[in-house]
Amino acid sequence: MADRARVAVFISGTGSNMAALLYASKMPDCPYRIVLVASNNPQSPGLDLARAEGVATFSLSHRGMGRAEHDAAMDQAVLSAGANFIALAGYMRILSPDMVKRWEARMLNIHPSLLPKYPGLDTHARAIAAGDSHAGTSVHLVTDVLDGGELLGQVEVAITPTDTPQSLAARVLAAEHQLYPRVLASYVARGSDPRFLLRRIRNLALDLPETYERESHGSAGFRVGTEKSGKFFAYFSDRHHGTPYISLLVKCGSMDELENLVEAQPHIYHKPAYYGASGWIGIILNRADTDWDLVSDWLQRSWRAVAPARLTRLIDAADSF
Ligand code: GRF
Repeated sequence: MADRARVAVFISGTGSNMAALLYASKMPDCPYRIVLVASNNPQSPGLDLARAEGVATFSLSHRGMGRAEHDAAMDQAVLSAGANFIALAGYMRILSPDMVKRWEARMLNIHPSLLPKYPGLDTHARAIAAGDSHAGTSVHLVTDVLDGGELLGQVEVAITPTDTPQSLAARVLAAEHQLYPRVLASYVARGSDPRFLLRRIRNLALDLPETYERESHGSAGFRVGTEKSGKFFAYFSDRHHGTPYISLLVKCGSMDELENLVEAQPHIYHKPAYYGASGWIGIILNRADTDWDLVSDWLQRSWRAVAPARLTRLIDAADSF
């Protein structure tokens, strides 16, 4: 499969969830692969397993190190491995706010409870003590709230009358091994789902002043100005004219700039059929590591290129404050 997402997995112990992610990644249609297993505990049994499976590993004990310093070393290992996502799987360290921010929307965690119930530790004992009929597991995005980011998926696990925290933990773990690979796969695959990509483009484009959406030749287009005399500043193009690209078409400064960008960074830019000839450049969106800040900059630039002077003057005035 072309351009699979590259995932680093962080563990501290057994690494059975890491193993589940790894074996799922060996299925032919899996949209991710594991490029690194990293641990803050050099004795993690999961590291041996990863090595035996030919996956790169990194370990660094956090003892005697500051949190930020330890995180920076882990981050460096992730970047060297070229990962675009981090999956925390039994990683028993709280991450520094910087690290969380850097990996915002690209870092997932699995937690053994039905969040928002029971964040933190001893989840199984707490569920049993509360008399809950079900425990379970959740996969969520990592934010600076402990176990508190957007929920991506959950599985319920029934609690039996004879359950102990240990027996329940074993069944929850079995459920985790089913849940995590699926959620991770669908999360990374969002990047090539045209509905998800269009939704993101729409949010960014319609956030600009006096914009509205109008279809053009079967594609979503975005215009600035009045309904009557507005002008297109962006089009969403879903694999048109035989290209494999889902892309955003925006106005380029000149034909030279367009040709140069396409030649220098063919993984980011392409010259779309028909539109390319009149100065529209395609920014490829269905990639593993689309830079959404770049997309947003281009949208603004293109908006500026066609917006009426009364609007750009307002923006310039606001910018100068
Ligand atoms: C899992 O129960 C996970 O939910 C929690 O830590 C445990 C890790 O187990 N965060 P393993 O190392 O994946 O076997």
